[in-house]
Amino acid sequence: MKTVVVYASKYEFTKGIAEFIAEKLQQDGILAEVREVKAVHYLAGFDAIVIGSALYMGHWMKEATEFVRRNSSTLADHQVWLFSSGPLGTETKDAQGRDLIVGAESKEITEFMEAIHPRDHHVFFGGLDSSKLSLAHRMIRKLPAARAILSEGDFRDWKDIEVWAMSIARALEAVQTAPRNAPIMMMGAK
Ligand SMILES: Cc1cc2nc3c(=O)[nH]c(=O)nc-3n(C[C@H](O)[C@H](O)[C@H](O)COP(=O)(O)O)c2cc1C
Repeated sequence: MKTVVVYASKYEFTKGIAEFIAEKLQQDGILAEVREVKAVHYLAGFDAIVIGSALYMGHWMKEATEFVRRNSSTLADHQVWLFSSGPLGTETKDAQGRDLIVGAESKEITEFMEAIHPRDHHVFFGGLDSSKLSLAHRMIRKLPAARAILSEGDFRDWKDIEVWAMSIARALEAVQTAPRNAPIMMMGAK
């Protein structure tokens, strides 16, 4: 099973998540490589594809969205997992009791679910280092509404990421060990 973990990341928090997922897959004996989305020009040769993007203003990064749209027919024929890196903090609900994780699902995810039928989509907590922000992002962060949700810190939950990576490893192993022509009985299987 050859796997590629493709990511779009502006300040490298999502890159770190992608690298960690690939590392966990490798430790489980799965051939896995990590590539920045702009460096992926073809997907031939990969059995499984994991794609992740940082979230900005409720959206996946443009290059990640374009990558999925451009390769949608190939992706629809593969085992695909998606992840987003976004919410900052450790709370899963806001002051009004709204679910921050479900709320962080970007607008594109519904479209991707229908177009490529990924095996799963998972939202991970992200990170923010104010000293690295672009001028535009610094300005946005100064807005009162943004200040409350764009907290500084590294909130990536490595245990959560590991559990998710292992769920991918288990699913790939099940595909590999299934007898030829036997139906694969798995939740969400294509
Ligand atoms: C200007 C700005 C807007 C953001 N918008 C969102 C958002 O809409 N939803 C979300 O969950 N996280 C949002 N975030 C948090 C980022 O997604 C988070 O910092 C992410 O981990 C950054 O990943 P990266 O370093 O790979 O780019 C925003 C961060 C900034 C600076």
